[in-house]
Amino acid sequence: MGFPVQRMRRLRVNESIRSMVRETELSLKGIIYPLFVVYGSDKRVPIPSMPGIYQFSLDRLAEELEEVKALNIPAVLLFGIPEHKDALGSSAYQADGVIQNSIKLIKDKYPDITVITDVCLCEYTDHGHCGVVERDGYVNNDATLELLAQEALSHAEAGCDMVAPSDMMDGRIGFIRKSLDDNGFNNLPIMAYSAKYCSSFYGPFRDAADSAPQFGDRKTYQMDPSNINEALREVALDIEEGADIVMVKPALPYLDVIRAVKEKFAYPTAAYNVSGEYSMIKAAALQGWLDEDRVMVESLISIKRAGAEMIITYFAKDLARLLRSR
Ligand code: PBG
Repeated sequence: MGFPVQRMRRLRVNESIRSMVRETELSLKGIIYPLFVVYGSDKRVPIPSMPGIYQFSLDRLAEELEEVKALNIPAVLLFGIPEHKDALGSSAYQADGVIQNSIKLIKDKYPDITVITDVCLCEYTDHGHCGVVERDGYVNNDATLELLAQEALSHAEAGCDMVAPSDMMDGRIGFIRKSLDDNGFNNLPIMAYSAKYCSSFYGPFRDAADSAPQFGDRKTYQMDPSNINEALREVALDIEEGADIVMVKPALPYLDVIRAVKEKFAYPTAAYNVSGEYSMIKAAALQGWLDEDRVMVESLISIKRAGAEMIITYFAKDLARLLRSR
């Protein structure tokens, strides 16, 4: 039974009918806004490659949170840029580090905003890698686990609502889970960057977070963009080790991975709409080549349609403003 009995255009005839059969809805539910907190005071530093995104010092972070609150954005993901970097990233796990202090400030003044923290060492190490570097440049897996667990625990102790390990060391979810549980944080969820690819779409982020590797690349720990079976194995391991939410990153070039993860595991799934995905749209819009709002909405819808219920996106404020104006 096909044409002329079937006419697909019948249900496209006007907005009212189109909206009745709409399968995917964009809302602020599950939208997570990344924030960069930098050491020092009186800073609101624009990131040139990410128009609209800034690094804030702690004393000016509230300016941004007022907007986040007014726009009803439910959650933020925190990244820290410390004053002091060293080989072991020791500023990452200080009780009064930039992130630990940010958590306290946000939970004190804005208790309703969910605070998720990125757990990684690359912003804190002088070599810019996500773990402990051996003499030959290789990142030592097991030595890194201890430091990541300390970092996650310090975030928990400061009062965060969720930790999100992004380092891609083997075994880190189990290691962090155990350390949280041993210290009374058995109710603190872990959002695992499970399928994190070694992507060139992170370029602008590394300016924002001052975290570019000083030598080599991240190919020995982040995933090869060619692989999807491997992504499923990564997700399976993270779930086994105690991940509550699994993540695919980046989002748009990996929609197939999001779909496969959702279908196979039926777990709460997040996708990271990364810096390069944001910058491409902003850059084209600035040239007048694309309609920014429409392209943003279409991109975010595609990520949801693929199967992610949470989206980490630099567009969070833009989306909130757009939804409000509709
Ligand atoms: C830290 C981390 C990175 C991103 C999130 N956490 C950078 C990297 O792995 O190099 C990238 C986010 C983005 O591009 O927006 N490891």
